[in-house]
Amino acid sequence: MKKFTTVDDIGNLREAVDEALMIKKDRFAFSDLGRNRTLLMIFFNSSLRTRLSTQKAAINLGMNVIVLDVNQGAWKLETERGVIMDGDKAEHLLEAIPVMACYCDIIGVRSFAGLKDKNEDYEERVIEQFIRYSGKSVFSMEAATRHPLQSFADLITIEEFKTKPRPKVVMTWAPHPRALPQAVPNSFAEWMNRTDYEFVITHPEGYELDPRFVGNARVEYDRDKAFEGADFIYAKNWSAYADPNYGKVLSTDRSWMVDARAMSLTDNAFFMHCLPVRRNMIVSDDVIESERSIVIPEAANREISAQTVLKRLLEGLK
Ligand code: CP
Repeated sequence: MKKFTTVDDIGNLREAVDEALMIKKDRFAFSDLGRNRTLLMIFFNSSLRTRLSTQKAAINLGMNVIVLDVNQGAWKLETERGVIMDGDKAEHLLEAIPVMACYCDIIGVRSFAGLKDKNEDYEERVIEQFIRYSGKSVFSMEAATRHPLQSFADLITIEEFKTKPRPKVVMTWAPHPRALPQAVPNSFAEWMNRTDYEFVITHPEGYELDPRFVGNARVEYDRDKAFEGADFIYAKNWSAYADPNYGKVLSTDRSWMVDARAMSLTDNAFFMHCLPVRRNMIVSDDVIESERSIVIPEAANREISAQTVLKRLLEGLK
């Protein structure tokens, strides 16, 4: 594998999950694969899970790791070509990328959507420039429109916890005070659409996702109806995608919070969220603390999804 930014890069999902579960059984089995190889992790945005799990995955594979927080200690980077750089940005990405590439074999990039210009976000201008100008294997640690390491961990988690061959998985919008990107729901939808699960998306009107990600999912505006018989509830907030409201918060309707009443409509569903989560906005304390909440095993699987991806990228270097 040369890059990992979408579900398309991972190939057959059954094989990918089997490989991930094999790695989970013995995560040090490939500790020689990354010897004398260096991973550079570049963060344009904050992170807890991605930062720690990806670093741990690389260490399991014997890699050296360098972490750069662009906004803490590096020169402020200009990302657009043609800009007269007379402001506070001292370095252009077009020099910074090849320079950073001199020091590593594989590059992980976290660069969220700005939520101001839909075209700029959906063209994935930052990570695409890393792919184009670094000459290295590049993977997404959450880009503007997708978070594939998260979705892969979500899939592994569902495979581990499911008790039916074809579970009903419901992704539900939930309220949040700030405008968040669509990357996690886009990506989750993209991955779920590659499975044979029954996949339903529920959200208030106005929160329709890009149809390219919704794919064959059933969109149900009545959340109670969507929750009926669900085996997994995947909660997430996102801002509006459709014009003219791109990137805006249209609703903070607290009745969309996932609480015990909503969960009682399901078939004793497991509760999932990628974290970080705002308690009593997205999910009530009792639901996230319940025995059916699997947010911690889900987060733990971030190490496994990252290790599977890094293993394949290292194999691709040979
Ligand atoms: N789920 C996730 O990506 O968490 P972080 O933003 O903390 O990395």
